[in-house]
Amino acid sequence: MVATVTNPLRVGLRQERVIAPQCLVIFGASGDLTHRKLVPALFELFEQRRLPSEFALLGCARRPWSDEEFRKKMADALAIRIQDDPEAWKRFVNKLFYEPVDLQKPEDVARLSGRLKEIDRWCATRSNRTFYLSVSPKFYASGCRSLSDAGLLRDPKRSRVVIEKPFGHDYRSAQALNQVVQTCGQENQIFRIDHYLGKETVQNIMVLRFANSIFEPIWNRNYISSVQITASETVGVEERAGYYESSGALRDMVQNHLTQMLAIVAMEMPGRFDPEAIRNEKAKVLQTARLADEVEPWNCCVRGQYGPGGSRANPLMGYRQEPGVEANSTTETYVAMKLFIDNWRWQSVPFYVRTGKRLAKRLSEIVLTFREVPVHLFDAATGRPTANQLILRIQPDEGAGFRFEVKSPGSGMCSRPIDMEFSYDQSFGEPSDEGYVRLLADAMLGDPTLFTRADEVEAAWRLYTPLLELIEDSPWRLPIHPYESRTWGPAAADALLARDGLLWRRP
Ligand SMILES: NC(=O)c1ccc[n+]([C@@H]2O[C@H](COP(=O)([O-])OP(=O)(O)OC[C@H]3O[C@@H](n4cnc5c(N)ncnc54)[C@H](OP(=O)(O)O)[C@@H]3O)[C@@H](O)[C@H]2O)c1
Repeated sequence: MVATVTNPLRVGLRQERVIAPQCLVIFGASGDLTHRKLVPALFELFEQRRLPSEFALLGCARRPWSDEEFRKKMADALAIRIQDDPEAWKRFVNKLFYEPVDLQKPEDVARLSGRLKEIDRWCATRSNRTFYLSVSPKFYASGCRSLSDAGLLRDPKRSRVVIEKPFGHDYRSAQALNQVVQTCGQENQIFRIDHYLGKETVQNIMVLRFANSIFEPIWNRNYISSVQITASETVGVEERAGYYESSGALRDMVQNHLTQMLAIVAMEMPGRFDPEAIRNEKAKVLQTARLADEVEPWNCCVRGQYGPGGSRANPLMGYRQEPGVEANSTTETYVAMKLFIDNWRWQSVPFYVRTGKRLAKRLSEIVLTFREVPVHLFDAATGRPTANQLILRIQPDEGAGFRFEVKSPGSGMCSRPIDMEFSYDQSFGEPSDEGYVRLLADAMLGDPTLFTRADEVEAAWRLYTPLLELIEDSPWRLPIHPYESRTWGPAAADALLARDGLLWRRP
């Protein structure tokens, strides 16, 4: 099903695999994710000629839209793109269909089989189907069951299910959900999505590490003194308070996105480039990762919540004043923590992880700080030479930087740090694809490399269980530290690093 060709329409460096004829069925087709991410990503694939001509998109939700109404809504979602390329839209729109389906009604899902057969006849999609559950997590288990009961997951080569985040609410619920979905299909049919893994720069970490001989020998505790992983947002909770109040930053960002980045940075080299070999290595990292202080977790974790901020001209309200948020909410909008990975490569190297809303800058990055030189021969502009840092920028301005000391111009022998930069945009002349473009293509290709396997999800939840239990049983142990909007978070997070003589990077 997977072949490799070079797409002549794109820059010569782009290597593409061919997606087999198929129908993509999106449950939740009237929802926000479909509108903002999934259909734009599909249109991008279509414009790049990466979708087969025998392709159909069948949107499903409860509301009784017709094909025409669905097409009109998707045209609204793509309005600006259609202005740029009306001809592409004219060709794409004929591939869109809609079927009213309530996932809680088995008879609706059974009726869906009939519609899919019809689409197979019209569009030559050959009974090959990718089902995308872009619905509330409470429907993930029942949705998989209904698909399985209707016989739609019977052929593992021709049917796949993509499941959105969050996958579970804690270790037990993730385990229970895995048990259900694994009775409905084989593990290689289940695609648990983490859109961070779709980002070009996250995948580039593997290439950087394993395709260059200079990095691997120093990628360990002998040369690296600490690792920082940051995902900061400038926006607040926006319209998502209903969801966020029951989630918070730990569940929404750390358990999935930040932990996946940690796994890729820390994993061993897989024996071959193959989905299971890669996922085995990531799972091993998560099985050996632990909170820096498991007995007293409050010593290694800080929770915060944004308060008001901004300027007089542009005031920003605090989290507790946001619509839909409890006036005395203790949901964290910021988390910082310290972890260790107990294996030969990483023993006693601290991994500091932080994420937050309404912070000073929007960015996701991984910073590896190398050990200082043992003897300082030269004066340094900053007092002492800065330790070398490798900075992997996930977003925005995707790329990487390497910070090292050079001689300052002049007659003295004084050193100062400079940055050597690589930017995806500048080097390849095109911005990298949105994560959903890559992940939708991979799911339709049946390639699970960038999707999270059952054991990885469970290991990630298990890692944070001591914190989740503490927040539930003894919340005063992990108090909420308020921080001003558009700053770098609470002072307590700075103190967490200061105890180790370190500072958070503030780019
Ligand atoms: N939005 C994002 O940026 C984002 C980001 C990451 C992950 N996610 C995840 O993606 C999923 C969808 O999010 P969303 O923001 O798109 O949610 P949403 O805007 O609330 O949309 C939910 C969709 O589910 C449909 N639906 C509800 N009950 C249904 C049922 N019984 N059977 C079939 N369809 C049903 C709704 O349409 P009807 O009312 O017509 O049935 C609607 O199309 C969630 O799990 C969310 O956690 C979303």
